[in-house]
Amino acid sequence: MKIALVNIATNKYISFLPKLYTTANMFFLNEHEVDYFLFSNLDFLINNCARKIHIKKIEHKPWPYMTLNRYKFFTEAEDQLKQYDYIYYCDVDMYFYSKVGNEILSDRVATIHPGFFNSKKTEYTYEDNPESTAFLKNEDGDNYYAGGFNGGSSREFLKMAKTINENITKDEEKSIIAKWHDESHLNKYFFVNKPTKILNPLYCFPDNFSSDLSPKIIAITKNHELFRSEV
Ligand code: GAL
Ligand code: GAL
Ligand code: MN
Repeated sequence: MKIALVNIATNKYISFLPKLYTTANMFFLNEHEVDYFLFSNLDFLINNCARKIHIKKIEHKPWPYMTLNRYKFFTEAEDQLKQYDYIYYCDVDMYFYSKVGNEILSDRVATIHPGFFNSKKTEYTYEDNPESTAFLKNEDGDNYYAGGFNGGSSREFLKMAKTINENITKDEEKSIIAKWHDESHLNKYFFVNKPTKILNPLYCFPDNFSSDLSPKIIAITKNHELFRSEV
């Protein structure tokens, strides 16, 4: 299979890339032909990466626009991305900790958010403004999914990216930004288009959670203020 791993890293977020790529080289879908797509505003070279890196130029905008607009960037790269069998996205402030293999290959792949694994539905943080296209009632929801790792067949992933991007644009016309940005829209999308594979939070495991379990993908606990500030 031909797989694309897509990531977004502008400005300070670039510092997370070496660890992500080094560990993805070791653990991410090793039996397959994987290419990396990096959406970035910076020109730079990564030497000696075992896999091909395609750099797509984007403009940096302040928080939360780089996360909110992620599906717009993927939609804009559709012509290239549709040549792959599967597409996966992970946040750049993550890294692979153990083998992630064929178990993730499915049409629509969602990951349960680590903060809501054992939560009651009433605790889910869906968008609660009925004016938003991301609006979802807690009692209706299936799970609360993480924005940090998802994917699927290229056809389904690009369809999802297009729909979420359209919904975010509709919200913007009403000056609405959903509570958890793209993650709120992702949750609405997976409510309407049920995932064909649901991954447990070991695929989005915060580095400050203590556990006897063996994580697959680690989410780095960072200083959000520092990373989201402009300087
Ligand atoms: C973070 C995400 C990064 C990047 C950043 C905006 O939440 O982990 O991958 O999208 O937002 O530059
Ligand atoms: C937080 C996480 C946010 C968002 C939120 C949802 O733990 O840092 O990015 O996912 O949960 O309630
Ligand atoms: Mn993150």
